[in-house]
Amino acid sequence: MKGIVLAGGAGTRLHPATLAVSKQLLPVYDKPMVYYPLSVLMLAGVREVMLVSTPHDLPLFRRLLGDGAQWGIRIAYAEQDRPRGIAHALVLAEAFLEGGPSMLVLGDNVFHGHDLDRRLAEGRQTGAGAAVFAYRVSDPERYGVVEFDREGRALSLEEKPSRPRSDWAVTGLYFYDGEAPSLARALAPSARGELEVTDLNRVYLERGLLRVSQLGRGYAWLDTGTHDSLLEAGEFVRAIEKRTGQKVAAPEEVAWRMGFITDAELLAAAAPLRSSGYGRYLERLLQRAP
Ligand code: G1P
Repeated sequence: MKGIVLAGGAGTRLHPATLAVSKQLLPVYDKPMVYYPLSVLMLAGVREVMLVSTPHDLPLFRRLLGDGAQWGIRIAYAEQDRPRGIAHALVLAEAFLEGGPSMLVLGDNVFHGHDLDRRLAEGRQTGAGAAVFAYRVSDPERYGVVEFDREGRALSLEEKPSRPRSDWAVTGLYFYDGEAPSLARALAPSARGELEVTDLNRVYLERGLLRVSQLGRGYAWLDTGTHDSLLEAGEFVRAIEKRTGQKVAAPEEVAWRMGFITDAELLAAAAPLRSSGYGRYLERLLQRAP
């Protein structure tokens, strides 16, 4: 399975913080936002990733992430010339995916929780169809919203409804079969001129091929879309890291734990980062008991 990270968008809700730099490059506490979704892909075992961003920001992502070799993965890049929607990323990635399944994650989504890797493995076992996660929120009107029947089966999907039928938001993590790029291409653009991921998911839902699993309260799915929520996400990560002495979403650590890189490669990745403490944390991983 290959991965796609969508890190486009104008980030207008975060202006002026995002006037010169992409939102997904802003820090969430101690690391760039894009590290979080990348870590999720890696935790799911994905080693081939395409990052989609704007012509302006792509060089900055390249500078930050390179070809991925330092983390034992391969990162390719694709330009989205203007905001064309989340589903459009699948169209851009069609050749890269070579007809195979994909895991798409939004560059501004932060996930954290015990056994997240097990839940990701569930998503991977999609076979034909698609799989998404739903998470209960206090402000569903800001998201794609899924309505369930009594048995917990998904009934409907709506994008940013003014009157949400439930509190369950669809998170920015999607698993698709190999058909997704052609289904995405066939979508009609929405009123804002974009190929909407909710429309794509609805195609799968109507075919009886969409699995929606609930991520319960033991998980954190954090928003980074406004100044307050970005700061709160940073505070959350800081609190967890301070309490446990472990980092949330350090790609070097994930790569090492997944066996993508060796001990020596972990040390090599850590060395240039020593003065921030992040590198010393990575070095200490080798001495710590599991
Ligand atoms: C997008 C999707 C929405 C989803 C959300 C998750 O919204 O359109 O369905 O719930 O991501 O982060 P956006 O945040 O791009 O407005």
